[in-house]
Amino acid sequence: MSEAIPISLKVNGRTHQLFVRPSHTLLQVLREQISLTGSKRGCNQGVCGACSVMIDGAVVRGCLTLAADATGRDITTVEGLAEGNELSPVQQALLDRGAVQCGFCMPGMAVAATALLAENPEPSDEEIRDGLSGNLCRCSGYVKVIEAVRSASTGGAS
Ligand code: FES
Ligand code: FES
Repeated sequence: MSEAIPISLKVNGRTHQLFVRPSHTLLQVLREQISLTGSKRGCNQGVCGACSVMIDGAVVRGCLTLAADATGRDITTVEGLAEGNELSPVQQALLDRGAVQCGFCMPGMAVAATALLAENPEPSDEEIRDGLSGNLCRCSGYVKVIEAVRSASTGGAS
């Protein structure tokens, strides 16, 4: 087995000095070494989006990203979306619209929707669907998720 290497990960504004194996994924390190368990391990092969986090504002699959490759980058997980005890607009809208069923996909959905609205504050429904197309919900609650993202957008106040 390869030697652990020292890395520095900046997650939700906080820097962590860690030793990781070169093969360890960002998802593993977030969950197992930093105790940020919001990002979920679904398929662990890049298909479901439950492990989605942002690196420098872009959505990536935590399960396909090596932790060592995220050194020095700005990582945002679902835990970093809220302001203290206040949910982010996307998180609040997901709750308010009843989009959360079992909840397993929600961290990834919230991260992807946040990145989408940061880039496109007033997306069409098609753009929302497109922006969330990499996030699978096994409970199939997509209609309410789309409604929630629409309501969290600048054009969706209702
Ligand atoms: S756990 Fe990473 S895409 Fe499914
Ligand atoms: S709410 Fe259950 S997987 Fe999406």
